[in-house]
Amino acid sequence: MKLTALHYVVAFIVVFSTIVFIVLFGRLPAFKGTIVGKAHVLLWHKIPARLIAIDKIVTGGRFCNATSSAGNYLVNEKNWAVTTFYITILTVALVFFFKDAWRYITNPIHRLLIPPLALQPYFYLYLCAFTDPGTITQSNVSRMLDLFPYDDIIFYPDMPPCRTCHTPKPARSKHCSVCKRCVARMDHHCAWINNCVGYYNYRYFLGFIVSNLIVLVYGSYLTFSVLYMEYMRQYFPEGYEKAPKYFWADYPKWIRLVHSQNWTAAVSSLFMIATLVCPLVVAFLAQHILFIHQGVTTNESEKWGEVEWIVNNGMLYIYEIGNAENETAESASGSGSENEPGSARPRSAVWSRDKAKTDNSGRRVYIHVYEDGEMNRSVPQGMIQTDKVPDLESVENIYDKGGVFRNWREVFFPKYT
Ligand SMILES: *[C@@H]1O[C@H](CO)[C@@H](O)[C@H](O)[C@H]1NC(C)=O
Ligand SMILES: *[C@@H]1O[C@H](CO)[C@@H](O)[C@H](O)[C@H]1NC(C)=O
Ligand SMILES: *[C@@H]1O[C@H](CO)[C@@H](O)[C@H](O)[C@H]1NC(C)=O
Ligand SMILES: [Zn+2]
Ligand SMILES: [Zn+2]
Repeated sequence: MKLTALHYVVAFIVVFSTIVFIVLFGRLPAFKGTIVGKAHVLLWHKIPARLIAIDKIVTGGRFCNATSSAGNYLVNEKNWAVTTFYITILTVALVFFFKDAWRYITNPIHRLLIPPLALQPYFYLYLCAFTDPGTITQSNVSRMLDLFPYDDIIFYPDMPPCRTCHTPKPARSKHCSVCKRCVARMDHHCAWINNCVGYYNYRYFLGFIVSNLIVLVYGSYLTFSVLYMEYMRQYFPEGYEKAPKYFWADYPKWIRLVHSQNWTAAVSSLFMIATLVCPLVVAFLAQHILFIHQGVTTNESEKWGEVEWIVNNGMLYIYEIGNAENETAESASGSGSENEPGSARPRSAVWSRDKAKTDNSGRRVYIHVYEDGEMNRSVPQGMIQTDKVPDLESVENIYDKGGVFRNWREVFFPKYT
């Protein structure tokens, strides 16, 4: 009885975390051509296509329609389904922890630390879900336009206004089709928190990830310690010296221990869930740390990937102000101390809405010129084609503030009015 229940738990966890990993990370370029990448294609494209074909024959497509409208609702409308799922899993796990493991934890320091650390994810979830991520409205769009200058690469001033909100699109903002609003420094819409992750709640989102990671790592440690104590009590009551050096490899004893009592089965399940989910959270956190370090949002990282492709295909050209005074104009308007000496990089391409019309000095614009000579945007007034961009390194990301902490400062201390 106990045995089968536990086996189901293990099988479920293994299958579930494998699928989640494949779905989340399978499309990353690093996995292209590997088994993970292939499994992603299979899960994401081949199997759904096959199911749709079968459904067409069996029910005339009705099953698919019903599932896709339910799926559509879950994915495209604001709703608390995924958040509820998360809260349920966390709460059930904590209930089992306090019911079955807590009484074996005698160290007062742990007893003091555990309750607040266990509550942290709820606290950050609340902050993430109910903090405005930075909704852009008519009244504050101009402030956002000043705060986020256009880089003239992936965001440029002649971008059309948002079709839904009818507000201009400040750089780094994006319209969220789930929340139906434009959000400043939009990272992504997150179903776990049922909210966008944007300028004002990115820090809480990081707190949410880290607090979950703490629960998982600390939880793994605690559940393992409790099980280890029980292992010692059952097999080596004479003392620790008698235990084998490689106690963890003593599988038959462990399996017997896990099945010996209800609480050991519960605590081992918690241990396995925590250790298996851990790598997923670590990978996700690592991805965001990397993004912050590079000064990009989730979406911009994708856009930079496209820019890289265009540059590698020799189709990105630099347009600069037409007159011969180019060099001097540029160094005169450079933004001073932050410029690396001797570099003619487009840091000076800071553009503010009012200034640009009169003063284009030092402005540098990147335009994607297709093979047939078509361009993907119109050439700003007075600018002419100068160079082809040789490589991605020569295109600067102006949102990467450089230094070790500047990008982090922007994340943790967003500017309010
Ligand atoms: C813009 O104003 C709205 C409404 O007052 C507010 O909810 C939102 O947080 C503001 N957005 C920014 C980016 O300050
Ligand atoms: C034009 O090309 C740039 C450079 O790759 C790109 O970032 C931008 O999104 C493109 N604009 C349009 C309207 O496609
Ligand atoms: C980034 O934004 C574009 C257009 O707004 C969207 O099509 C794409 O799916 C987004 N990518 C990510 C990773 O959010
Ligand atoms: Zn919008
Ligand atoms: Zn959203």
